[in-house]
Amino acid sequence: MTAPRTPSLVTTPEELRAALADGGRVGLVPTMGYLHEGHARLIERARAESDTVVVSVFVNPRQFGPREDLSRYPRDLTRDLGVAGAAGADLLFHPGVEVMYPPGYATNVTVGGVSEPLEGSSRPGHFDGVATVVLKLLGLVGPDRAYFGEKDWQQLAVVRRMVRDLNVPAQIVGVPTVREASGLALSSRNSYLTPEGQERAAVLSRALRAVQAAASRGERDTARLRQAGLDVLAGEPEVSLDYLTVVGGDMAERERVENDPMTRVLVAARMFGVRLIDNLPLWPDLPRQAGGEGT
Ligand code: PAJ
Repeated sequence: MTAPRTPSLVTTPEELRAALADGGRVGLVPTMGYLHEGHARLIERARAESDTVVVSVFVNPRQFGPREDLSRYPRDLTRDLGVAGAAGADLLFHPGVEVMYPPGYATNVTVGGVSEPLEGSSRPGHFDGVATVVLKLLGLVGPDRAYFGEKDWQQLAVVRRMVRDLNVPAQIVGVPTVREASGLALSSRNSYLTPEGQERAAVLSRALRAVQAAASRGERDTARLRQAGLDVLAGEPEVSLDYLTVVGGDMAERERVENDPMTRVLVAARMFGVRLIDNLPLWPDLPRQAGGEGT
């Protein structure tokens, strides 16, 4: 355990640059705030591998669609400072929208391939927004390493692809998903659900586990693997399914799955009006990495 500290709050690129002078090895954890134990795990990992740990808290408007939850996205900076500090952050970078996207701002980053299916087709423009803000944060902070959760597996693949394609000199580190005892993956959006809703939302992770179990019994046919998950979801009337799919590291579905560490089962569904996503590796004992090589 690292000693809790109160991170310095910085809001402008100038303050950030001054605070990072002689920062040694810098670790960056980009977030949209309302920090929970999943974010804390990323910060702790950064703490263990860095001299200076920067957590960014920025609810990035460019990654929300016009009918999405930007205006009601949960925010609590005081609490975020506490969680980030307890997990070992030195700096909390919290820029305003006008700092990130000042008048005249005109650049957009589009990553091809891995960003196109799944979340890419369900949420048009989402990954452009993510790639753009992540590239800006990498430029502003200039970290040695940046930490992302496997919870957002496709996002991790998109970030890895971008960093490789654009020669960004930062190492991208993926961190396993933190879950409730029920199996529900922690998410800031879980705060939209009642306690009962959160319990019932754990059906998504049970469906993923059912697919994993079918794979461990030797099932290799993607349609039958999917069916194992769909059977579990069928027991919960609140599930409005967007996708349940088994994909390789390129985010593409195949008819039969290979015994490959990058093969993953992904789910997205709306429950009680909240869009939730989750994923698991098909073979949890094989080492894996969204988007290919690296840590
Ligand atoms: P946000 O949803 O706040 O998540 C910030 C980071 O925490 C992401 O890398 C996400 O994958 C990780 N994370 C979230 N829940 C997790 C969990 N249960 N276990 C492990 N890691 C978890 O993802 C974003 O923000 C934004 O898209 C961002 C990358 C900051 C760009 O705006």
